[in-house]
Amino acid sequence: MWAKIIFVSIFGISQVLGAYVFPKDFIFGAATASFQIEGAWNESGKSESCWDHIAHYTNEIDDHSNGDVACDSYHKLDEDIKVLKELGVDSYRFSISWPRILPEGFSNKVNPDGIRYYNELIDKLLANDITPLVTIYHWDHPQSLQLLGGWTNPRMVEYFADYARVAFEHFGDRVKQWATFNEPQQFCREKIWGEAPSLGSVALDAVAPYLCAHTLIRAHAKAYHIYKNEFANQKGKLGIVLNLPWTEPLTNTTKDIVATNRDLEFQFGIYAHPIFTKDGDFPKLVKERVANLSKLQSFKKSRLPEFTEEDVKEIRGTADFLGINHYSTSLTSDASDEIDLFTPSINNDRAVKSTIDPSWPASEIFWLYDVPWGLYKALMYVKNYTNNHPVYITENGFCEEAIDDQGRVHYYQGYLQSLSDAISDGANIVAYYAWSLLDNFEWHRGYTKRFGLYHVNFTDPSRPRTARSSAKWLKNFIHDVKSNNL
Ligand code: BGC
Repeated sequence: MWAKIIFVSIFGISQVLGAYVFPKDFIFGAATASFQIEGAWNESGKSESCWDHIAHYTNEIDDHSNGDVACDSYHKLDEDIKVLKELGVDSYRFSISWPRILPEGFSNKVNPDGIRYYNELIDKLLANDITPLVTIYHWDHPQSLQLLGGWTNPRMVEYFADYARVAFEHFGDRVKQWATFNEPQQFCREKIWGEAPSLGSVALDAVAPYLCAHTLIRAHAKAYHIYKNEFANQKGKLGIVLNLPWTEPLTNTTKDIVATNRDLEFQFGIYAHPIFTKDGDFPKLVKERVANLSKLQSFKKSRLPEFTEEDVKEIRGTADFLGINHYSTSLTSDASDEIDLFTPSINNDRAVKSTIDPSWPASEIFWLYDVPWGLYKALMYVKNYTNNHPVYITENGFCEEAIDDQGRVHYYQGYLQSLSDAISDGANIVAYYAWSLLDNFEWHRGYTKRFGLYHVNFTDPSRPRTARSSAKWLKNFIHDVKSNNL
């Protein structure tokens, strides 16, 4: 402990709390996303989003629910502010619903009520000393744009940039932290494409994910340049949020070590490498592998589109910070011998298998385990990968329903410890947002899986919010950090 105190003071970190160490101006927050909490799906001029469409017309949601009402945050803004205030957070990460402010998808028609809602939210947050971090896109684009091909359509670069410009114009005088996209690797792989089964598996599994990556990275870069050129006077920061689950080789064989690195490059590197390294391009490993396999599969060109030299210049270095969503850890092994390399798919390109250690405490959702050292390793990997670019942890959380959610308390204790250890070891972490403020619509899982610090009763029309034990624990934790920091 003594050694630790000396160590942190050398690096100018001003606060020591038990074993936890945080910089003086460290930001604690909680996060949500528009489709998951707002409801009011067709009110006051909002149009149908691609997720409204999935929930209304497919069988893909476990409990056949939808986001029509969700937490009703559109009508319960004051209640959301109240619980944020109660938690004592410095910041709130929320997202804007594209179809709520641009119902037709395009910027020629702005919906005044959508603008009013977010203005009110931002103003009330600021009046309560809570700074907004706004995600421009958290998966819910207008269905009209989905019908034009969604993220496989290269024109989305312009549509998104126009949408971002509207957000900067209307909210940028007060919002100083922006994230363009949330977890592209999730939505580029999601069943959003799957609702058109006639696409066929090659288009769906082997081509669309790469078209999507190529389009949205250019869209991100374009929005960055618009922000920096047209809105320089707003003096804010803009980044992108990537998902980084940690993974370790299952065995210490070369095959598994190589496979683990390949997995990280396919999941994280595809998006991080173009923006956060000098290359400004997809990782070499990914480019070579997809090109070779495409050739083997008799494609004339690689299924991974190339960036032009001009694209590379546009993309490189276009983020003031990297947002990391981290939840869990897995163990990776090589699957090259088990897959048919002649069958094109992004999963076959990756060629890995994932498993877990059965001793890890499980959450109530199949993919999430309480493995705090995974966060430490992920943060040290990012430090190295990005040359220690500033990082915001934009999501971290656990799935558990009980009001007395001791599993989630244990998770936050351990993960905040790992975060603090990574900071002590030089990782440049600026902020930490818990996912989620409230129970909400958990995508394909509907309302069957809960991530909230606050429980929401979805069968009661007034959607009451109730603090879980973890909310009380986090509130005390933030309070202790702040009072030791004074
Ligand atoms: C997403 C959230 C989601 C959470 C838990 C993240 O991938 O950004 O929208 O609710 O994980 O699954």
